[in-house]
Amino acid sequence: MSSTAVIGIRELVTCDGTGRDLLGIRSDAALVVEDSRIAWIGALPETPAADTMIDVAGRVIIPGFVDSHSHLVFAGDRGSEFAARMTGQPYDGGGIGVTVAATRAATDEELTRLLAGRIAEMRALGTTTVEIKSGYGLTVADEVRALRIARKFTIETTFLGAHVVPAEYADDRAAYLDLVTGPMLQQAAPYARWIDVFCEPHSPHAFDADEARQVLQAGAERGLGLRVHGNQLGPGPGVQLAVELGAASVDHCTYLADADVDALAAADATVATLLPGVEFCTRSPYPDAHRLLAAGVSIALATDCNPGTCYSSSIPWVISLAVREMGLTPAQAIFAATAGSAKALRRPDIGRLVLGSRADLTVLDAPSYLHLAYRPGVPIARALNVGFTGQQANARPSVLS
Ligand code: NIG
Ligand code: FE
Repeated sequence: MSSTAVIGIRELVTCDGTGRDLLGIRSDAALVVEDSRIAWIGALPETPAADTMIDVAGRVIIPGFVDSHSHLVFAGDRGSEFAARMTGQPYDGGGIGVTVAATRAATDEELTRLLAGRIAEMRALGTTTVEIKSGYGLTVADEVRALRIARKFTIETTFLGAHVVPAEYADDRAAYLDLVTGPMLQQAAPYARWIDVFCEPHSPHAFDADEARQVLQAGAERGLGLRVHGNQLGPGPGVQLAVELGAASVDHCTYLADADVDALAAADATVATLLPGVEFCTRSPYPDAHRLLAAGVSIALATDCNPGTCYSSSIPWVISLAVREMGLTPAQAIFAATAGSAKALRRPDIGRLVLGSRADLTVLDAPSYLHLAYRPGVPIARALNVGFTGQQANARPSVLS
């Protein structure tokens, strides 16, 4: 077993839930990593001997970002759809079909290369765990392929066969639902940890409450955890369904009724994942994060990186938006993008830097964590490669560089 000491940490943000801001900050700290886990945390002068040493020279260390919502397996380009939106075109999910066609036409090698590039981008911006959804295949073979490719990079894979009803089933939604909840689910499940559904009556392409319930129940019967795209384009049933079925997360939450907030507050199992990059890139109103926090709801922040509503892999940018546009404090935003999003993936081993947790460390070229929001667009965060050499299966990094 080899050990690594990380020293010279001017500010260690543990996100251990202590202190007024929950960030559990330690100054002039050090930590020791053994087999990819944190084995010791303390004051610099007390650092125990270790096999190797990394001196971060007065920088900040935070838990690696957990990006708990992304759609990274795709080919094609929708830059012109974005440009049209910026001149007033509304988003209704219709562009997903364009990406489905391009993704079906791509080779395995091309999809793998594109995915690897996007993941490298994320890691360079400080993300150490990523959840990746399928949903641009929408045939049995193409959904299984997307998940198989995503699985090479992360264990947090999500079957999203119920992203939209593909064009070839436009006149027979029931038949597509039978496919998604039957043979497609059966063949996708071995490659997925989660199942998700775009529950959105405001989109003609997505699924209503009854359809979404069928999808989620079928996934749960196959042993998959549940996630929901809900309340993105208007008020809707997504949040209530997610809470009722015990989903780990309901994502977007842009349009919430009081009853939705109450339901989330009463159900600690379901996190509200906010994706402000989507509101930025679709010129939509931001979700009311304060209303959720005031009610005691757990929130997470993620990118939703996808070719339609937010083609950004940057959690630091999402944190800037959450602070500037949604009024979160920098501390609330960082907590939501680490411990909050780890909770949305039901992963107590990540998102915090405490004894025994995974040593997924992100370093900031800055004197304090405030700079994440204070220096928008400046690449001050990057994942630190430390302790990722262990050979046990569970010692692999959640995101490979
Ligand atoms: O999370 N809402 C559904 N899915 C994506 C958008 C996908 C696309 O437009 O390609 C989202 O916003
Ligand atoms: Fe999404």
